[in-house]
Amino acid sequence: MKALTWQGKRHVTIENVPDPAIQAPTDAIIKITSTAICGSDLHLYEVLGPFMDKDDVIGHEPMGIVQEVGSGVTNLSPGDRVVIPFTISCGHCWMCERGLQSQCETNQVRDQGSGTTLFGYSRLYGSVPGGQAEYLRVPNADYGPIKVPHTGQDEQWLYLSDILPTAWQAVQYAHVPEGGTLAVLGLGPVGQFTARIGKHLGYRVIAVDPVTERRGMAERHGIEAIDQDEHVGDRLRLATDGRGPDAVVDAVGMEAHGSPVAGFAHQAVGMLPDAIGRLAMKTAGADRLNALQTAIDAVRRGGTISLSGVYGGMADPMPMLTLFDKQIALTMGQCNVKHWIDDLMPLVDDPSDPLGVLDLATHQVPLDRAPEMYETFQKKEDGCIKVVLKPELSTNATGGTEGETTRFPADAGSHEADGGR
Ligand SMILES: NC(=O)c1ccc[n+]([C@@H]2O[C@H](COP(=O)([O-])OP(=O)(O)OC[C@H]3O[C@@H](n4cnc5c(N)ncnc54)[C@H](O)[C@@H]3O)[C@@H](O)[C@H]2O)c1
Ligand SMILES: [Zn+2]
Ligand SMILES: [Zn+2]
Repeated sequence: MKALTWQGKRHVTIENVPDPAIQAPTDAIIKITSTAICGSDLHLYEVLGPFMDKDDVIGHEPMGIVQEVGSGVTNLSPGDRVVIPFTISCGHCWMCERGLQSQCETNQVRDQGSGTTLFGYSRLYGSVPGGQAEYLRVPNADYGPIKVPHTGQDEQWLYLSDILPTAWQAVQYAHVPEGGTLAVLGLGPVGQFTARIGKHLGYRVIAVDPVTERRGMAERHGIEAIDQDEHVGDRLRLATDGRGPDAVVDAVGMEAHGSPVAGFAHQAVGMLPDAIGRLAMKTAGADRLNALQTAIDAVRRGGTISLSGVYGGMADPMPMLTLFDKQIALTMGQCNVKHWIDDLMPLVDDPSDPLGVLDLATHQVPLDRAPEMYETFQKKEDGCIKVVLKPELSTNATGGTEGETTRFPADAGSHEADGGR
């Protein structure tokens, strides 16, 4: 089959790799119909390189059709349409039973000191082949896959794999009081959904991003959006009686803009030989902390910062005095995807599309074109906000829609745009 593979820093290619096969009774094989590129994949593309091996298959936001199931999988049958959560979890261990599926004790990557195994996410998370491919082996398929109806285009359901539950968790963990104000830093896909969910739950939401079209997308969903600069903290205080927002979600993570010195260190880690690079990444604190520092400055005293952006490194200079003095609660973590599906399913199934799931993807392209789309997404070119790869559109699979990119115009904002479902 064809799959997107990691070959080196900022170098991914489509290669022919062996088809996946059932290895355990609880495995299933899925034929992928849609598979998205995530902001987290950009960390692999850049700074997490030292943890990647040549030919690793990337991707953790897939959905498709069940092809085959192991003897221990009784909840799925070939032909079912499923979305695959990026966190692999068993559903019955101590952590899973408490809704902490991203810490699943059956699948923790203990040799790396990491939480549960993730699809396509480096040695740190178990080196499991990912979903930017034609087929995917899904471990723990007796619990993980989310069955969805055969109606509606893939994009209606696809984001249940990661960014919708991630955004939902970010807002839940932000503990915004009733009628309170939530600031969202970053309007990538995670920030877009975080802001929409905050608004849906009745909060005032103010979002921050340096990219014009990302602010434009938020504004057409009724979100106040401001540009990113060194005065964000002051502007958020000005908008909230001088106190600052009750909670701030950091949906930026370590690809933050605005810190040129740290930016150099971050680049340098990606250039080091692997063994040294791995150590530097884990211990030297070469992160870009601009967004986190903005959150600490902006949040009101006694407020909460909820991190969904991914940070690595242990020696980052954290302003402990300010955190303590302002009495800030800090929440964070990989998403416990399955824990939130019952809350989200009615919202994605609602024909009025309250979270606007059909207004996110800006690029729908054949899998073959993934390498160039990584670059476009990383550089935020061509209005790119979310890329969905379609293996079935691959050039030699159809011979028809060769390599065409479908770009969705700024007004593709409702279920009407999907031609009726
Ligand atoms: N916790 C989880 O389980 C989980 C799941 C998915 C993604 N993530 C993480 O969430 C983060 C966002 O993901 P995404 O797909 O939206 O990525 P993205 O890279 O598209 O979005 C980041 C956005 O932040 C903006 N930005 C950069 N610097 C900023 C600053 N200083 N202030 C305000 N905005 C700034 C960028 O312009 C961009 O729009 C990533 O770190 C990703 O790894 C975490
Ligand atoms: Zn993701
Ligand atoms: Zn478990």
